[in-house]
Amino acid sequence: MYQTKIAGVGMYVPDRIVKNEELASMIDTTNEWIVERTGIEQRRWFKPGVDSTSSMGTRAAEIAIEKAGLEKQDIDFVVFATLSPDYIFPGSGVLVQEQLGLDTVGALDVRNQCSGFIYGLSIADQFIKTGQYQNILLVCSEVQSNTFDLTDEGRSMAVIFGDGAGALVLSRSEDESQILSTHLHSEGKYAKELILEEPSTLEEKRIMPDLMQRAGRWPYMNGRNVFKHAITRMSESINEALEASDLNKEDIDLLIAHQANLRIAQGVQKKFGLSDDRVFNNIQKYGNTTAASIPIALFEALEQGRFKRGDVLCFTAFGSGFTWASALLKY
Ligand code: COA
Repeated sequence: MYQTKIAGVGMYVPDRIVKNEELASMIDTTNEWIVERTGIEQRRWFKPGVDSTSSMGTRAAEIAIEKAGLEKQDIDFVVFATLSPDYIFPGSGVLVQEQLGLDTVGALDVRNQCSGFIYGLSIADQFIKTGQYQNILLVCSEVQSNTFDLTDEGRSMAVIFGDGAGALVLSRSEDESQILSTHLHSEGKYAKELILEEPSTLEEKRIMPDLMQRAGRWPYMNGRNVFKHAITRMSESINEALEASDLNKEDIDLLIAHQANLRIAQGVQKKFGLSDDRVFNNIQKYGNTTAASIPIALFEALEQGRFKRGDVLCFTAFGSGFTWASALLKY
């Protein structure tokens, strides 16, 4: 069996910075409320006609490939994680294959929302472990700002989520670097706690004439329930990963939790008694970029020298589905 290592990381965010004060000029909220409840100070919004989920993913992927010291032609397979694909079909993976000018490699789309990065990581790891592929591009990208209800009713979503992309090249390891384990979970009874229902194939016609009057056209989140489950499930999944590798919390050099909400990440940090130098958060600058949040944080942590080869990294995520996941790896 082969092992998988992170060979390169990239990120891309749109130029447009939306500070809390700008949001407060559109909806009934304040900078103080957002910072206190979520830690977020600003986020990025895409520019229609300039950015798209696939184009942002492609930009992040180009950086990841370059950092890995590879050529585009070295990529054997694409995994694309998003909840906001360019189209309902086809998925955005094939668009990245085209935009990067890759050979006719396979492209798989993962629809696991905030857990999409770790689900994608796990899939790539299995393909590399079995020897089927040597270099896999994992792309995570989201355009969420164009689904916000920018009235007071939609404020709980609008203050949290942002746009951006992160990408990894995962390669067959030739040294000690390896993904130690991944752990994936779901609990569909909570599907409607964080959901964008419409347009839906449950209807006679996917686009019903009264779509613009239907509440389900806006994303819905039961914030309190999500908050409670997120801390519990992310903590459980970290313990699961530590047990699987016979490690304990002292062995974690850096924890990167999905950037859902700074209070959630800090809740997990507290449960494990990790000092600030052993966690990395950047939700303050980007908001919750769903599948892209961990790879964006990973890129910035690496650029800032927050971890090095041989360090034990732990990832954990929770989101719509509910889905949650963890991964432990030796970088
Ligand atoms: N700005 C200002 N006030 C707001 C507000 C906003 N954006 N949203 C809600 N409020 C107000 C409410 O009206 C309420 O006021 P009241 O006490 O006078 O009735 C008060 O703030 C508390 O509302 P509530 O909805 O209970 O807030 P909360 O403390 O649960 O915080 C979230 C809301 C969304 C920030 C919080 O639930 C959360 O972060 N949940 C997790 C979300 C998440 O991480 N999602 C991503 C998962 S991947």
